[in-house]
Amino acid sequence: FEVSWDAASAEKGGFPSFMEKEIHDQPAAVHDTLLGRSDTRGRLILDELRIDPAELKQVNKIIVLACGTAAYAGMVAKYAIENWCRIPTEVELAHEFRYRDPIVDKNTLVVSISQSGETMDTLMAVRYAREQGAKTVSICNTNGSTIPRESDAVLYTHAGPEIAVASTKAFLAQITAAYLLGLYLAQLRGNIFSGQIKDVLADLNKIPEKIQRVLDTTGPLRELARSMKDEKSVLFLGRNVGYPVALEGALKLKEIAYLHAEGFAAGELKHGPIALIDEGQPVFVVVPSPRGRDSLHSKVVSNIQEVRARGARTLVIAEEGDEAVREYAEHVVYVPETPPLLMPLLTTVPLQIFAAELAAAKGFDVDQPRNLAKSVTVE
Ligand code: AGP
Repeated sequence: FEVSWDAASAEKGGFPSFMEKEIHDQPAAVHDTLLGRSDTRGRLILDELRIDPAELKQVNKIIVLACGTAAYAGMVAKYAIENWCRIPTEVELAHEFRYRDPIVDKNTLVVSISQSGETMDTLMAVRYAREQGAKTVSICNTNGSTIPRESDAVLYTHAGPEIAVASTKAFLAQITAAYLLGLYLAQLRGNIFSGQIKDVLADLNKIPEKIQRVLDTTGPLRELARSMKDEKSVLFLGRNVGYPVALEGALKLKEIAYLHAEGFAAGELKHGPIALIDEGQPVFVVVPSPRGRDSLHSKVVSNIQEVRARGARTLVIAEEGDEAVREYAEHVVYVPETPPLLMPLLTTVPLQIFAAELAAAKGFDVDQPRNLAKSVTVE
């Protein structure tokens, strides 16, 4: 009798890759990032920020700096921060930032987002912002790494070590931390009622269990991914907070399945990308909540119809109970109901699973894709 065992598979906790393990770590990553950062009355406690609250009250502009997946987390956060704090918020790729002449002063809050805390592009951008007098907060997953050390303050994500090159759990933890920061600023500045903050926190606290529900029902999605291993190109559409989710879904496929993949804002479709659609083109559509803003939902449902009418395969991520999408969708993945701003914490998960399953079906090394490093320490 022989037990086959090796250290690497033990570390993967029974999953075929670190990426799969890390996708499954996400309920804990979000839970742990929320832990201990609010009290029972629903007030944010972010003493760890160590920036004088009086200074934070003076902030009149926020610039989020990051690269890759972390920048997409920043794009998601922008919607929430502007909504809750009413502070103009820009998101910029860190490597673009200091090569223009950005308008930054002591009332600018620069929020950098980095899993590793060592990304050189992000570090250089933070240094530059500090030199210009901005206050800098780092959202980071790696204790004691360079970017938090060189920032005025840090809000750690508690996702645990991320080994796979393709970032997954760090992304959800980054969104969670950025949301906490947004709520904290809103609380300090009295922008929203304390009851509203309490409600958002309660909804955030329900997210881990909802992610688990998504993870428990991935069979048909995995089958779909395996059946698509010979595809040459996959497109992703999303709108509002679903737009960065579409970009992230495309990035995951590029990184680990070496597949041409592009994300678009669904509203841009008619301004060009619709010309790409022909018979059999797979298109993922991240549908906004039907309970969300104005007519966004119906506009995205129209986009599904438009691409379907031109022969696209429509693969839809929607909220449970959204029956309107069924008629035009070849495949629907439903995620549990949640407030519209929190949707990315759920809608991203099926796209991560799709990429991991498809890359594995192609026989690629899901954790160590070619040409990429986990942390990019050169400019
Ligand atoms: C994500 O899957 C990527 N490997 C990459 O885009 C990454 O998010 C980016 O390089 C930023 O890394 P960081 O979070 O460690 O700064």
